[in-house]
Amino acid sequence: MKLTSALLICSIPIASLAAGPSFTVDAGHPAGNVSPRLYGLMTEEINHSYDGGLYAELIQNRAFLDDARKPAHWSVVHDEDSSAAMELDETKPYNDELTTSLRLTLDKAGPDHPAGVANSGYWGIPVYANTRYRVSLLARAEEGFTGPITVTIVADDGKQVYASKTISGLGPAWKNYQAVLKTHRVDPTARAHFRITLEQPGTVWFGLVSLFPPTWNDRPNGLRKDLMQMLVDLKPKFLRFPGGNYLEGNTIETRFEWKKTLGPIEQRHGHPCPWGYRSTDGMGLLEFLEWAEDMKAEPVLGVYAGYSLRGMHVNPGPDLEPYVQDALEEIEYVTGDRTTTWGKRRAEDGHPKPFKLTYVEIGNEDWFDKSGSYDARFAQFYDAIKARYPQLKLISTIGNDQPEAARVHSRKPDVTDEHYYRNVEEFLRMSPDYARAYDRSGPEIFTGEWGAHETSFPPWDQKSRKEPPTPNLWAAIGDAVFMAAMERNSDLIKMQCYAPLLVNVNPGARQWRPNLIGYDALSAYGSPSYYAIRMFSQNVGDEILATTGVETAVQGCATRDSNTGEIYLKLVNPKSTAESLNIEIKGVRSVASKASAITLAGAPEQTNSIDNPRNVVPTTTTIRDLKPDFSFTLPPNSIVVLKIKSRS
Ligand code: AHR
Repeated sequence: MKLTSALLICSIPIASLAAGPSFTVDAGHPAGNVSPRLYGLMTEEINHSYDGGLYAELIQNRAFLDDARKPAHWSVVHDEDSSAAMELDETKPYNDELTTSLRLTLDKAGPDHPAGVANSGYWGIPVYANTRYRVSLLARAEEGFTGPITVTIVADDGKQVYASKTISGLGPAWKNYQAVLKTHRVDPTARAHFRITLEQPGTVWFGLVSLFPPTWNDRPNGLRKDLMQMLVDLKPKFLRFPGGNYLEGNTIETRFEWKKTLGPIEQRHGHPCPWGYRSTDGMGLLEFLEWAEDMKAEPVLGVYAGYSLRGMHVNPGPDLEPYVQDALEEIEYVTGDRTTTWGKRRAEDGHPKPFKLTYVEIGNEDWFDKSGSYDARFAQFYDAIKARYPQLKLISTIGNDQPEAARVHSRKPDVTDEHYYRNVEEFLRMSPDYARAYDRSGPEIFTGEWGAHETSFPPWDQKSRKEPPTPNLWAAIGDAVFMAAMERNSDLIKMQCYAPLLVNVNPGARQWRPNLIGYDALSAYGSPSYYAIRMFSQNVGDEILATTGVETAVQGCATRDSNTGEIYLKLVNPKSTAESLNIEIKGVRSVASKASAITLAGAPEQTNSIDNPRNVVPTTTTIRDLKPDFSFTLPPNSIVVLKIKSRS
């Protein structure tokens, strides 16, 4: 059903004769259709989201390219009767991508006195009981040295070897060696590292050293299982990638170049990411697509559009043409069949079936391009993509949150992307009216990045560094009122996603706060905002029901599943006192006498962390003797989803 009046679906407090705070749901006349793509995920390499995060590789600086001066994250191990030295060596590299190697030289060593190198992982190597880890290394040795070499996962204090294997048959030519390390009974720990040792003098070079634990769906070069489970639980309908700023790069040279991210990992040089560290590119274009597929989500593909963060831009016209062609080829890689050049390449890379693609975003946050070139750049991409792929919907990165003059005028974008990083008070203020005045016949809206911060300063302020990596319950309240606003308007807000999604909480690992999910090498936790989003995304129908709040600060929204009649009423109480609401579901014949209430509540400053991961989590209770007209008390600072079965 089409929306007839935006006013109908906004829960603005209005004056009324009704006694006391009340909330009305109009179930008689659905006010619009909920977008089937409501609730998705946005992702990029930030805060060690992939390297040291979702991408399950455990060796940091596996290709020795992180620092041209020294083998960062690697150290020498020896005892009093052995000696070893290591150095970066650019002579005789494995190939043109892995341009350096690690030379390990042992002058003195014996069976009881091994020596070698150790890698500290991404803030530790996670050790789990009865787990198989896959080692893969590229190595060559000096003439006459055949090994063996020993690969080990060992406790940082050296007292316990968790798993160990020897590899022999080394020779002077580069070769890939594989081993499986199996742990036994052990208490999980991340106070461990990975070692490669020799028991005799000799010189060995390593080109790439990789260690993977079991991955989600057992994919090689795959993803961390605990994080994937948390993401799958959010039931995302789409995945926006690869950025964000990560798409743009600081410079044109350091943009996300998708072609360089394909193929075996030893063919990937990696590149500097704009967030201050180097990306292995282990998460390449195909890994992003398979990640989306594994979550049953559709990719929302961001293509580089000729603007990079330090203010560089490519002039529209002939200069931009190679980038436009590159985007067309990228779309062909995603969607083409085997008869196309890039579809064939995708099949050779291991995924014969084309991926479904509906939305392509042209760039990221192009309002930062002070040259004013975006309008013409967008037009050039738009014309070329529409000519070959008329079915695709194209997203402009400049939406209603930016001044009218900055937006695209040369073409009518199918969708515009709005970004809202706001503090809680601002979300509380703007949410009742959000999108109310928007032109329903204008472009669809994609709220492609949003998130509430509980601080008075924004995420990019230096002061944020001192704050916890993930938000507290008060921020979740801000997130929830904004989600309710987007859900009320989800006939127009077709997609939306919180950002950033992931943060490695170790000191020095992050560049931004707040983030949705925190983790270290061993475990992960959801912030209160994670649980708020999960409550919203797991409980949404296909029909928007108009809501009206009277004499209350409570904000909310309602949807109904047209198949089952179940109504999902979402209510957010931002007050520090309980709110007793008279709730009326209008336009139904009856409601089931039993309903359930999922509640996230607590003190505003309450939060979750690695040490206290379940301090604030939702609880589910049953409500009995329900009628279409009932009273319900929301706890102070609470987010509540009422699941009410109804008949019309
Ligand atoms: O989410 C963090 C950053 O915020 C994104 O990379 C960028 O698009 C926005 O400015």
